[in-house]
Amino acid sequence: MGASRSELKSLRSTKYTSSARTEGGIERLRALGYRSGLRALDLADRVLGRDRKMVPPRRYRRFIGNGDFAKVGTSITQYMRAELGLLPSHDVLDAGCGVGRIAVPLTSYLTEGSYLGFDIVPHAIDWCHSAITSRHPNFRFSHVDIKQEIYNPEGTLTSADFHFPADGQAFDMVALVGLISHLLPDEVDNYVAESARVLRPGGKCFATAYLVDDMVAERVREGRTAFTFTHSRGTHFIHSEQEPTYAIAYRLDHIQEVAARHGLRLEREPHLGTWSSSTARPASMDLLVLERA
Ligand SMILES: C[S@@+](CC[C@H](N)C(=O)[O-])C[C@H]1O[C@@H](n2cnc3c(N)ncnc32)[C@H](O)[C@@H]1O
Repeated sequence: MGASRSELKSLRSTKYTSSARTEGGIERLRALGYRSGLRALDLADRVLGRDRKMVPPRRYRRFIGNGDFAKVGTSITQYMRAELGLLPSHDVLDAGCGVGRIAVPLTSYLTEGSYLGFDIVPHAIDWCHSAITSRHPNFRFSHVDIKQEIYNPEGTLTSADFHFPADGQAFDMVALVGLISHLLPDEVDNYVAESARVLRPGGKCFATAYLVDDMVAERVREGRTAFTFTHSRGTHFIHSEQEPTYAIAYRLDHIQEVAARHGLRLEREPHLGTWSSSTARPASMDLLVLERA
């Protein structure tokens, strides 16, 4: 049975937002006010007993985008199960796992298999350790200190030559959710290569991305998409020259070429999100599934 329409709609609502973005004094002040507001709401949740054990506090949830944490996570994992054939015995690698939005709903499903998530934000990984690994030891998390302008500007490692913390052919599925849109071309190349390395033959790499073909490129140029990618760089389009990794859209044929070079093929036509077909927001990203030969 396939994922329902509403599940897909919710899955595709990984938003084009990053509240970690702070440019200039006013933006910084706004961000500070926003963070203080979230702290106050977290405190209120605790005092009123509204905090839930497997849902991170609001101040941690904010950097992964808007949307209902539990609902979006459930939709994504439902898609992995119903559409991609994820089994309870499978091993899953979640690159850029954030605060466990995918991990939490998988805890009740991956009963015989395992999960490894890594991310560059230390407090996200700390929360996952204490909330998830403590209850589900087959769910592990790793902090990797990669430099990234928005999420981890002080990092010491680079995405372009980073080795995933995993052995070769150790996983049945790799998730790259909300990640490719923050990676530059040499970084995408390495993350696709690493995904191929850690996947078993027949394993799947599941990614969300802003994908561009000729038709979408025209819409982007004419400003007829929900998100603007005003700077064309041939293989990709960026939103901001000052902060290129804020949001990047990729030509689908480029991603296919990179994937093929590393032994992955398009397993099905991408599921198109709403971002490229109209200017209406909120809008959603495209879904890409690659398979290891
Ligand atoms: C939009 S959030 C999505 C988080 C998570 N995948 C989810 O769906 O909830 C993007 C995540 O990618 C992480 N990230 C950014 N660059 C990364 C990199 N080079 N390697 C690993 N994680 C990265 C960020 O820290 C952030 O947690």
